[in-house]
Amino acid sequence: MDLKKYVTVVPDYPKPGIQFKDITTLMDNGDAYRYATDQIVDYARKQNVDIIVGPEARGFIIGCPVAYSLGVGFAPVRKEGKLPREVVRVEYGLEYGKDVLTMHKDAIKPGQRVLITDDLLATGGTIEATIQLVEELGGVVAGIAFLIELSYLDGRSKLDKYDILTLMTF
Ligand code: PRP
Repeated sequence: MDLKKYVTVVPDYPKPGIQFKDITTLMDNGDAYRYATDQIVDYARKQNVDIIVGPEARGFIIGCPVAYSLGVGFAPVRKEGKLPREVVRVEYGLEYGKDVLTMHKDAIKPGQRVLITDDLLATGGTIEATIQLVEELGGVVAGIAFLIELSYLDGRSKLDKYDILTLMTF
């Protein structure tokens, strides 16, 4: 299946010059969403993963159906102040300023093999921060799966120690 057919490129959103990749038109198509999910499930099986981790909000949309299909758990990575118990936290750079991501301290057991999921690899900052949280908890990043990679931003160079699956490249 040609998944790119289901991604809507929105010009000049959210700012002039940005070609936004809207995945809602992939998700609201049952066949396309299932096909994309199944590709990631196959990859997760190959990488022998124990648990899925994804950053809010779109990392949940990709990771949760994969976790359900495999019968493994899903651990959310959230912006600061959203998780109710003790967390590990990491600050990461944005284009302007900083943001913080957190995970519950007991979300991953040491040695667990983790698949990280997200919709999009852009600069790689979000996933780099997510990896830091997983590794701080003793998890092993067994793979990282994205629907889309924006290759011209070269986020991949930040992740060169890890195994990566991307279903589409723009
Ligand atoms: C977007 C996207 C990725 C991240 C990619 O999320 O869903 O998580 O940016 O960019 P990067 O590779 O440069 O870090 P966003 O921060 O907009 O959050 P949202 O999913 O909650 O809207």
